Amino acid sequence: MRVLVTGAAGYIGSHTAVELLHAGHHVTGVDDFSEGRRGIDADIARITGQPIEIHDLDLRDASAVNVLLATGHFDAIVHLAGRKFVGESVREPLLYFDRNIGTTVPILQAAQTFGVQQIVFSSSCTVYGNPTHLPITEHSPLVPTTPYGFTKRAIEQLLADLCVSQPELSIMSLRYFNPIGAHESGLLGEEVGGIPNNLMPFLMKVATGELPEFTVFGDDYDTPDGTCIRDYVHVVDIARGHVRALEALETRSGFSALNLGTGVGRSVLEIIGACRAATSHDIPYQVHPRRDGDAVEVYADPQRAAEEIGWKAERTLEEMCADHWRFTVASSRRGSMS
Ligand code: WQD
Repeated sequence: MRVLVTGAAGYIGSHTAVELLHAGHHVTGVDDFSEGRRGIDADIARITGQPIEIHDLDLRDASAVNVLLATGHFDAIVHLAGRKFVGESVREPLLYFDRNIGTTVPILQAAQTFGVQQIVFSSSCTVYGNPTHLPITEHSPLVPTTPYGFTKRAIEQLLADLCVSQPELSIMSLRYFNPIGAHESGLLGEEVGGIPNNLMPFLMKVATGELPEFTVFGDDYDTPDGTCIRDYVHVVDIARGHVRALEALETRSGFSALNLGTGVGRSVLEIIGACRAATSHDIPYQVHPRRDGDAVEVYADPQRAAEEIGWKAERTLEEMCADHWRFTVASSRRGSMS
């Protein structure tokens, strides 16, 4: 298929573009490069042996989006563009409405204009908020507790409503749990400048010595070691989930949502231990007060993705940490050479 990947220069987007190309699809990217890395198209081409064009444009610019879809003749859209930091969204809700919802409406309008009927959307386990029952299934209540989670919930509702107004549409929303890791080549990974929001990039910066110590946001939660629990899943597994979802859309219509997680919850301290093993660095940490918006314990029931699209997370926590570390070291070497 001819596939447009929005956010293609980003962490999930670049890995998803690689897996779509590996699966034989023709991939065009679009990114505003506010987070994504310029030049990543060359790395994607180097990994896959296939070229990819990533258009530099703002998805809030409806006229530019229309030109892109008028000329692209796309069969499907994989919509990943958006911001994804829970803590940041609590501090800046307007930014999240603008960058997540404001970038989605124009692409959906253009899809309607140019007859693109298959869409895979990048959603998040944060649509579930602070779950009352675990593991989380797709029928768990959708009660987001942060602006980030709310934007994903709102977009899912819009997509579901579109499928009612246009029954020929086929749309799947993928609710990622916590993506970590990197492509085994060391060429693609989570690029984070400055002080990271997310756990893994922060741990990696402490391992390299760029940051002095890690901040654990609270160890007084009702969990075995007092720290929050999350379902960490390898970014390549997440990317392959998009390929499975896209190919499933060809034989179905309507809206559906699937959890992409391993089904295993791990605490912050467990991840610190796994990173110490993977990096052979001490990774010192200090316990600080809880972070606003954090859920105590979140992990998936991944059964429905296995049943509906034949997807299951395959990579282990050790592989996630080793791959993330390899990218971190390779990326800092590239930085020092540039
Ligand atoms: C994980 C745990 C923190 C940083 C992420 C993505 C979001 C969504 C869900 C896809 C929490 C703790 C973190 C630090 C810490 N995924 N932590 N010190 O908040 O679960 O959300 O996964 O859509 O996009 O952002 O991930 O990595 O920020 O936090 O103690 O410096 O690590 O309290 O328990 P989160 P995170």
